[in-house]
Amino acid sequence: ETMVLYLVFIHSLYFIPSMSFHIRRNEPPLDKGMIPWLGHALEFGKDAAKFLTRMKQKHGDIFTVRAAGQYITVLLDSNCYDAVLSDVVSLDQTGYAQVLMKRIFSLNLPNHNPESEKKRAEMHFQGSALTQLCSSMQNNLQHLVTPSEMGLKVSEWKKDGLFHFCYSLLFKTGYLTVFGAEKNNSAALAEIYEEFRRFDKLLPKLARTTENKEEKQIASSAREKLWKWLTPSRLDRKPERQSWLGNYVQHLQDEGIDAETQRRAMLLQLWVTQGNSGPTAFWVLGYLLTHPEALRAVTEEIQGGKHLRPEEKQKNTPVFDSVLSETLRLTAAALITREVKQDKKICLSNGQEYQLRRGDRLCVFPFISPQMDPQIHQQPEMFQFDRFLNADGTEKKDFFKEGLRVKYPSVPWGTKDNLCPGRQFAISAIKELVFTILTRFDLELCDKNAKLPLVDPTRYGFGILQPAGDLEIRYRIRS
Ligand code: HEM
Repeated sequence: ETMVLYLVFIHSLYFIPSMSFHIRRNEPPLDKGMIPWLGHALEFGKDAAKFLTRMKQKHGDIFTVRAAGQYITVLLDSNCYDAVLSDVVSLDQTGYAQVLMKRIFSLNLPNHNPESEKKRAEMHFQGSALTQLCSSMQNNLQHLVTPSEMGLKVSEWKKDGLFHFCYSLLFKTGYLTVFGAEKNNSAALAEIYEEFRRFDKLLPKLARTTENKEEKQIASSAREKLWKWLTPSRLDRKPERQSWLGNYVQHLQDEGIDAETQRRAMLLQLWVTQGNSGPTAFWVLGYLLTHPEALRAVTEEIQGGKHLRPEEKQKNTPVFDSVLSETLRLTAAALITREVKQDKKICLSNGQEYQLRRGDRLCVFPFISPQMDPQIHQQPEMFQFDRFLNADGTEKKDFFKEGLRVKYPSVPWGTKDNLCPGRQFAISAIKELVFTILTRFDLELCDKNAKLPLVDPTRYGFGILQPAGDLEIRYRIRS
């Protein structure tokens, strides 16, 4: 009898820390947080990077947290991201995408299929279509930086925030290029950017449904205005089916999607295609302006390519490429989310197996690992412009963790089966903007000793990070 009691006692001790039916053999460690139901939701939303780093220190590369009634398993072993996420049968990406579309874009696309969307986009953002798109992008950018378009005389100084300067220029360039809007209405273009920013600023709150009444109104009004601008028939769609957007609109029409939903879908695509390049260009230039050695190296590289034809200039730029990779490592913070449709076993790179439970959510957050993993990148919070360069000036691809080569030192464009189809176009546009600014403008910090603004911590999870403030610059068009 004492033996039985003893066993019961031991058994109950075993269960006390979890106090839950959720713990089962081989499931990741569970951390429910102190607050019933809500769990860790507040901390997660306030600063996901800080929270998940803390959880990683406590539990390791895989753990389950509770947030707002949902059990979320977070996987931070980057060597197994591809293998885990390739199982599209057990792991569904459409359900959560639908929820976000509704919350953020007020959009219902019941047949939305991210996989086929990516295939459609891939066709239009590579090969000869990409070449055409890039050349149109270059023309549009050159048009936008003429003195008349900038409202600026040659050699006249003007002050601005670097984030605003980069984002507005690249947004307008991308909008003209991808949405085929008319070039010669700069007032409308400026207005569209301002509305887009009003909306973009609130995006994390809309996604988490934490916006207040006033913010809700601001978002609604910005959306309404943007929907009007984005009505497919108002956009210049001369290339029709040949262009990605024309093809997409045609697809929506074929699916029987009504006109109102079509223009709402346009705003989704505007954000997908224009929401990340501008902020990236800001961080690239911001890091260069606050790291003179890096700026010198990039400027020298551009000088060295001066004699090349325009279409060749972008091709061999290892220093700039390293600067961009390093910038993306520090600022690309998309959270990849899947719904677990059926119980599933996953295997970490150390061979350990874990069971994922049906109905839970799986999140992969490459920002924490590999990108900010101190075992992979020394002093990961530091910007080192040559981190992705070998001593002989070629691209560095070999990075190690505990003696094993890591598959990817950085994952800004998503994982193998979920790569951003617009990545080459994005790189080309960012490069073009940075090269144009460094060759055609004088651009400097208003305060020589200014530091980069801090990151807005609410944006972890939503693509490229944005700064909490701005960096004051002055610039002029060179004579
Ligand atoms: C620095 C800039 C950019 C970054 C870091 C970036 C990153 C990403 C990532 C990580 C995804 C995958 C999201 C997921 O599957 O969960 C994605 C999807 C996508 N990106 Fe990009 N992207 C950038 C710029 C662009 C540009 C310029 C375009 C097009 C012109 C573009 C078009 C797309 C499209 C169409 C998708 C698929 C969206 C869907 O699921 O329907 N992206 N991007």
